[in-house]
Amino acid sequence: MPRILLILFSLSVMTLMLIARCGLNIDHYFHQQAAAAAAAAQALTSNDMAVLDHKRLRDVNEKQTREMAKLRKQIRFLEAALKGAYQKAQNLSMRSTTTTTAKPAEPAESKATTPLSVNMGEQILISDQPRQVDNINYTRFFQEQFKSAEILHGVTLKSEYELIPFTRFSTGRIFLVEPGLGKRVVEKPIGFKKKDLSEVVQFAVDQLNRERSEKDKYAADDFVEGIYRIDPTTGSHYELYFRDIDRPGMKNYYSKLTVMRPFGPLQLITKNWINTNKEWINLILPLSGRTDTFRTFMERFVRVCILQDKRVFLTVVYFGKEGLTTVKDILTSTAKTYRFKYIKLISLKEKFSRGQGLQVGTLNWRNGDPLMFFCDVDIVFGTDFLERCRLNAAPQKRVYYPIVFSLYNPNVVYSLHDMLIPPEKDQLVISRDTGFWRDFGYGMTCQYKSDFLNIKGFDEQITGWGGEDVLLYQKYVRSEYLVVRATDPGIFHLYHEKTCDPNLKPKQYRSCIQSKALNEASHAQLGLLAFKDEIDIHRGYKRWSSR
Ligand SMILES: *[C@@H]1O[C@H](CO)[C@@H](O)[C@H](O)[C@H]1NC(C)=O
Ligand SMILES: *[C@@H]1O[C@H](CO)[C@@H](O)[C@H](O)[C@H]1NC(C)=O
Repeated sequence: MPRILLILFSLSVMTLMLIARCGLNIDHYFHQQAAAAAAAAQALTSNDMAVLDHKRLRDVNEKQTREMAKLRKQIRFLEAALKGAYQKAQNLSMRSTTTTTAKPAEPAESKATTPLSVNMGEQILISDQPRQVDNINYTRFFQEQFKSAEILHGVTLKSEYELIPFTRFSTGRIFLVEPGLGKRVVEKPIGFKKKDLSEVVQFAVDQLNRERSEKDKYAADDFVEGIYRIDPTTGSHYELYFRDIDRPGMKNYYSKLTVMRPFGPLQLITKNWINTNKEWINLILPLSGRTDTFRTFMERFVRVCILQDKRVFLTVVYFGKEGLTTVKDILTSTAKTYRFKYIKLISLKEKFSRGQGLQVGTLNWRNGDPLMFFCDVDIVFGTDFLERCRLNAAPQKRVYYPIVFSLYNPNVVYSLHDMLIPPEKDQLVISRDTGFWRDFGYGMTCQYKSDFLNIKGFDEQITGWGGEDVLLYQKYVRSEYLVVRATDPGIFHLYHEKTCDPNLKPKQYRSCIQSKALNEASHAQLGLLAFKDEIDIHRGYKRWSSR
């Protein structure tokens, strides 16, 4: 009995402690916030008001809004924790009162003897248990989904941009409206799409065969064609056309089925609190020659990694002798100027091989399981990318393959619009005119050393710039690892001129030119170049006619 009392009391004290602690925390945050606001206000008044531009004000405002949102979130989080603790305490007291019917609890007695541990409270805070699914009526839920979906009736949209187009398909073909990797406009259904479409057709066949006699049933062969689209809020919609087998040989008769695969209600799968504070990234850079490009790479490295992020280790793997001293000098002077210790230079005599460079750079780490970022000298990234690198890779689980934004030739981009080429940092713009998502590039990646070794990294002997990064990517795709392939607006591939070797065979040379064109400018910009004569003639004609 005294045990229960003890537990009860310690729980109530713990709860009190928790409240006190959280309260203090919040107070602390508010104090900080108030101090920051006061400082900002002072800065504003002491400055000459005329100097202030709107942007600054807006920035301060935005920062405060962000801070407030953050604080609100923290408050909600603490409230939830408190509620959990209360409930636990109540459950326990209920249990103790039911088991100890005779004597009421007397908490006062055990006051002095209770050692307190606030850690228990923290266990609740960071609990990672999937929440229990609510008991909902799925029949009703799906009926509501069918009603709200734009499937039996139209839904008014605000503009043509909101419309979700259908994709047409037959048994062996999908005519894509949203081209994926390779920009295909027609493809054979594979993977998830194949599974989905054959399941839908089979379901439709089963529906058609309900209450039909055994000898004349519909088969998948009777399927003519269909269309489908995916509405993220309600589900996938399908319209399927079959030959009408009750009217054999008659051309214009069909059986039509409308099918929907409804999406269920949202479900929480995991909930985590992440801290990337201590997560260092080991940037590995294989290099050969290109010392000027390397110099500017290091200028950016200083700005982003040494001065801002402060959690990046640099490993340069240099191939060959020529230029080695220059690279050494650049690294030494950077290390000295910024008292930066986390630089390593490995020099290899062999002919350049990116795969080998990355392999050597990774194996160079003897201890622990560092997070690696495989990089190139013409890649530009910001701290936001580094953070995504940390958030999207997880040892033994997942690897991150960002889709890098590839910049077009600035000479073409800006001169076509009669603009001067801006400095590099102002060229880092994500738009249709400035570049494209390099969805066929797999060279930049974040992964843990243990995973790289587990998948057997760049074991194959490949030299030069020859597809080793694609092979590594394919190994991950075929493995149990989760490959996070996502657009990343914080990492850019700078334009550099591509030269096609005149010694190539005609077919290879053409494909080299095609890839060169893709990197050079957008379809529309290349068009302006191709039709330059016509544009010039039109300009002359206009001038003549306006005389
Ligand atoms: C307390 O009991 C209720 C119902 O008896 C249960 O749903 C809840 O999860 C329990 N809470 C804790 C923290 O044990
Ligand atoms: C679920 O909803 C449907 C439709 O509203 C209703 O007919 C059915 O009785 C409900 N089932 C339960 C268990 O409440």
